[in-house]
Amino acid sequence: MGGYGDVQMIDENGIRMDGRTAGDIRPVLINAGIIPVADGSAEVIWGNNHVVAAVYGPMEAHPRKIQKQDRAVLDVRYNMAPFSTTDRIRPGFNRRSREISKVTAEALESVVLTELYPRSKIRVEIEVLTAEAGTRCAGITAASVALADAGIPMTDMVISVASGKINGVVVCDLNKEEDNYGEADLPMGVCANSGELVFLQMDGDLSPEEFQVAWDYNMGAIAPVHEIMIEALKRSNGGDE
Ligand code: CDP
Repeated sequence: MGGYGDVQMIDENGIRMDGRTAGDIRPVLINAGIIPVADGSAEVIWGNNHVVAAVYGPMEAHPRKIQKQDRAVLDVRYNMAPFSTTDRIRPGFNRRSREISKVTAEALESVVLTELYPRSKIRVEIEVLTAEAGTRCAGITAASVALADAGIPMTDMVISVASGKINGVVVCDLNKEEDNYGEADLPMGVCANSGELVFLQMDGDLSPEEFQVAWDYNMGAIAPVHEIMIEALKRSNGGDE
C-alpha cells in the first residue's frame, strides 16, 4: 500500500495495466489431490500467484500443551518460498507469515467441524511458489480445497479475495503493482454457501461508499471461484463429488 498517486494503473477507459476492467478477477485455476502422500492437497494458480496447500491428519496433537480437550486445533503454516518474488525471501517464519498463518487458521476453524476430533490436530501447510499479491487469499482458498480433498468434515468452504483502491478507483482482486502502489487493500474470506464472513483485513483508507464497492466485488468473486473449486474436487475424485 504505497499510495503513490502518480503511478497510473488504470486508464481513462477504466482498463487496468493487465487488461482487466475494475470488476474483473484474475484467471483462477485449481487442481486438487496434487500431493499423493498428503491426506489432502490442492494448488491454486490465481493470476500469477501459485500456491500449494497440503493437509495431514487429523492426528494426535503434539506437544500435549497445544491439545484442546473438546476439539481439534488447526496447525497452519503459511510460507513464501525464497524464490517466490524478485527479492529473495529469507527462509523461515517471520512476523508476516505468523500473522497470515494465524488469520488463516481462524478463518478455517469457522468451517471445520473441529469438535469431532478432540485432542487432535490437523496440519495445514501452505507454500507460496510464486507471489503476485493476494497470496493470503489464494492460500486460504487452496487450504479449503485441500481440507475437502482430505475428507475433513466442514460446514462450508472458504474463498478469499482482496479488492482495493487504485488511483481513486475501487477495483476487484488487486495484482502486485496495484497492491504495492494502490491506496487501499481489503482481503476478505467468505463461506461459499452461507455467505458468512470469516476473515477481513484492511490496509489503507476507504470511504463507506468505497468500502461497499470493494465488499461487493469480493462477494461477487465467491460464486465463480466456488465453481472452480468444486470442479477441481470432482476431477480429483474421478468424477464423484
Ligand atoms: O500476498 P498478500 O497480498 O496476501 O500479502 P501482502 O503482504 O500484501 O503482499 C503483497 C505482495 O507483495 C505479495 O503477494 C508479494 O508479491 C509481495 N511481497 C514481497 O515481494 N516480499 C515480501 N516479503 C512480502 C510481500
